[in-house]
Amino acid sequence: MLQKVTVIGAGNVGATCAQRAAEKELADVVLVDVVPDMPLGKALDLCEAAPVEKHDARITGANDYGPSKDSDVIIVTAGIARKPGMSRDDLIKTNAGIVNTVVKEAAKLSPQAVIIVVSNPLDAMCHVALKASGFPSQRVIGMAGVLDSARFRFFIAEALNVSVENTHAFVLGGHGDTMVPLPRFSTVAGIPITELLPPDQIQALCQRTAQGGAEIVGLLKTGSAYYAPASSAVEMAEAILKDKKKILPCAVYLSGQYGYQDLYIGVPVKLGKGGAEEVIQIKLTAAEKTALDKSADAVRGLVKVLGDLGF
Ligand code: NAI
Ligand code: 2OP
Repeated sequence: MLQKVTVIGAGNVGATCAQRAAEKELADVVLVDVVPDMPLGKALDLCEAAPVEKHDARITGANDYGPSKDSDVIIVTAGIARKPGMSRDDLIKTNAGIVNTVVKEAAKLSPQAVIIVVSNPLDAMCHVALKASGFPSQRVIGMAGVLDSARFRFFIAEALNVSVENTHAFVLGGHGDTMVPLPRFSTVAGIPITELLPPDQIQALCQRTAQGGAEIVGLLKTGSAYYAPASSAVEMAEAILKDKKKILPCAVYLSGQYGYQDLYIGVPVKLGKGGAEEVIQIKLTAAEKTALDKSADAVRGLVKVLGDLGF
């Protein structure tokens, strides 16, 4: 029997997460949404693709949480997405209410699950999910760094005309304009990109990475990115389900690491069946730490807004 992943929110990111997880045969998938019947329709459609895609994962759609009972991983994508001109932070009030409600419901039925938060503004929604679930912080993790790093990796591969598979990158900090791409730790076949590209070109790639979400919103016009976000959330789910001890940049609750207290922010983390099993501390230069401090300040600002809203 496969393990179970529940995806809350059967919109663009959620449905694509369900598709990727099922096609990798990672787990049986439960897809929950408030829109009547819609998640049932998407789940049935995905099941009917299974014979062609050659997997035996079961996908169940639901408007309630019953089928989600005893999930191993819960991916939270419920909420509204950005439209052109909106920042991720504009979503805070609506999505805090939604994330609070759905996490309370889901956590009751799956008390041992690891929660992966995707809804924006990401770092703030992690704070909401932590409180709503009552889970230990190791089991409430945000997806942002994997996506931001994947974007950076693609831009590096494109600039150097090399395989994306040769690239590694780290983007730390909050999931917003202040995110911190780290060129020193971004490599092609093990070679730091600082050896391969001139500083102004690296700077341009970092800038494009920080604006990566807005670039897609500007092109789609009716919503935000979902293929790369879903791939990223499912990579995290796979690391947890298979207890891979994989090091990925994730938003986690820091209690002193990197000098931050009681704050969700993106840092390198070892992911395994316990969730965020270890925060990997790397030594930052003064400039990198200053940039991370600025990003942490932006997240603190959102956490304050949450407090003012009663979350
Ligand atoms: P979408 O609008 O396509 O889907 C959202 C779904 O949530 C809708 O189907 C809606 O009916 C559902 N929903 C709303 N309230 C709900 C509730 N109370 N219970 C269950 N379902 C509910 O949006 P999309 O594109 O899937 O994005 C989802 C969220 O993920 C947005 O907040 C977006 O900003 C965020 N996002 C975050 C990323 C990250 O890197 N962390 C990347 C991409 C998106
Ligand atoms: C993104 O980075 C909207 O946060 C989402 O694409």
